Amino acid sequence: MLARSIGTQLDFRPVNLLYYGDNLDVLRRHIKDATVDLVYLDPPFKSNQDYNVLFAEKDGTGAASQFKAFEDTWEWNIESVRVFEELVESGGRVSDVMRAFRQFLATNDMLAYLTMMAPRLVELRRVLKLTGSIYLHCDPTASHYLKLLMDAVFGPECFRSEIIWKRSSAHSDTKQGRKQHGRIHDVLLFYTKGQSWVWNPQYTIYDDEYVKGFYRHVEKGTNRLYRLGDLTGPGGAAKGNPEYEVMGVTRYWRYSKEKMQELIKEGRVIQTAPGTVPAYKRYLDEMPGVPLQDMWTDIRPIGAQAAERLGYPTQKPETLLERIVRASSREGDCVLDPFCGCGTAISVAQRLKRNWIGIDVTHLAMGLIKSRLLDAFGADVVKTYKVIGEPVSVQDAAELAKEDPYQFQWWALGLVGARRNEEKKGSDQGIDGRLYFHDEPEGGNTKQIILSVKSGHVSVPFLRDLRGVIEREKAEIGVLITLGDATKPMRSEAASAGFYKSPWGSHPRLQILTIAEILEGAGINYPHPSNVTFKRAPRAETPLPEQLELAPSLPYEELTERPMRKKRRKS
Ligand SMILES: C[S@@+](CC[C@H](N)C(=O)[O-])C[C@H]1O[C@@H](n2cnc3c(N)ncnc32)[C@H](O)[C@@H]1O
Repeated sequence: MLARSIGTQLDFRPVNLLYYGDNLDVLRRHIKDATVDLVYLDPPFKSNQDYNVLFAEKDGTGAASQFKAFEDTWEWNIESVRVFEELVESGGRVSDVMRAFRQFLATNDMLAYLTMMAPRLVELRRVLKLTGSIYLHCDPTASHYLKLLMDAVFGPECFRSEIIWKRSSAHSDTKQGRKQHGRIHDVLLFYTKGQSWVWNPQYTIYDDEYVKGFYRHVEKGTNRLYRLGDLTGPGGAAKGNPEYEVMGVTRYWRYSKEKMQELIKEGRVIQTAPGTVPAYKRYLDEMPGVPLQDMWTDIRPIGAQAAERLGYPTQKPETLLERIVRASSREGDCVLDPFCGCGTAISVAQRLKRNWIGIDVTHLAMGLIKSRLLDAFGADVVKTYKVIGEPVSVQDAAELAKEDPYQFQWWALGLVGARRNEEKKGSDQGIDGRLYFHDEPEGGNTKQIILSVKSGHVSVPFLRDLRGVIEREKAEIGVLITLGDATKPMRSEAASAGFYKSPWGSHPRLQILTIAEILEGAGINYPHPSNVTFKRAPRAETPLPEQLELAPSLPYEELTERPMRKKRRKS
């Protein structure tokens, strides 16, 4: 059994938590009512774009098997029927809207998707504080249905904005025969739980045309741009404005004589020509910008060469999350991302000194999040969060391997900081992961470690094969990660491969690591002055938030149910 102790709900002081598991299960079993200030969710949708890219090998093969991991989410099947019936039987607005969807859509994939989303949205509302906010990130394929669903869960009176994010530049495929408008935007549905919510106004910079049109004056000496503001009092005497003379001009003014004197002293009052009405100098550099509107065209997608790009296909830009987190939460607040992917919301929350809870159902995402945090905030970041739901014993690992060999493989590779092999064709078979490193002066060659992960029986011939693969691939080191024990003959075979010599010493060319050894702290013996396997997340600019003291009583909850996955055999 995976569980060491099944936690009830969080009832201790806030700590950052990274959960591996299905978010519905995690929310229901682990997150207490009204404890979260801000939810951002970016759920997958059945667009091959999302998951084929995530799971396909570079040549397009192999996608189908791993794509199955999410298949259930979008297919109308026995599980959807069960959830749908539960939703309908629970009554209220959610029941009404689900029944209406069924009548309109019949039992298609979209209904299955909405049936998957409905109970999760209900749980997310439950965990939000009364002053909390939620942003649901989606695209126009489903945004119209999701808005109705959000209305049903949160109430139409709690709808705040539909934000259009221009996520890519224009498509130029008209000449290729495209007969519809280019699809370049995503939709973010912003709802609040109640009628009073956290709101920190955000501003965007003025566009050039506006600046040219209004800030036409340049201050001599400083070159500061300014515009002229009216100093006269609207409504004149009737509104109680004082009348007096300023720079030879008598008018009803909006300020008292004393205040006007102060402004003159500060150089804030200007008379552009003798006899003209004095005006107020409003400097461009003192203006906050344009209050944020619901059309966001200034946040660019993550470019192919962007420093923050981690290679996760659905990764969102940090600037997008920063805007949301800044607008709708305060320092120390709790931000929850139940579909956290490679951890964009989490990383931004950490940088902006919010507490966070992240949930994802793949070990691929978990591995990326951990290395992202490490790269951005340094080694001490691990003290600020707790990972829950990953195997912590050989027995847990064996269960994971039995249940889902791919997830086992991703998890095992993540334990040693390696990445899954993306090119599993022909001669690459048997290579499950790769890890790259540099041990030469700047500009030197990139070296590689080849990894093979086995949860089943392995013996000496396998090691011989692995040795052949290392030689063929011209890799420096090969590693077998095995769930089972390594026999004496296997260890002798590995030892016979000799050593790779680096400026840091000698490293066995063929290494065997058992899961038990790794869980006890063993790692690959290699020179790692700079591991370049994962594209590194740029170091965060703001200092690490004060370390949160971890609650020592926190039970290491394990998730026993993984309803989203079927048992699959690794081919
Ligand atoms: C569109 S991606 C999120 C990307 C993320 N916003 C980022 O910037 O990296 C959706 C994520 O949801 C995860 N996911 C899908 N179904 C899930 C579930 N039921 N529970 C938890 N995570 C899930 C997937 O593994 C994937 O990483």
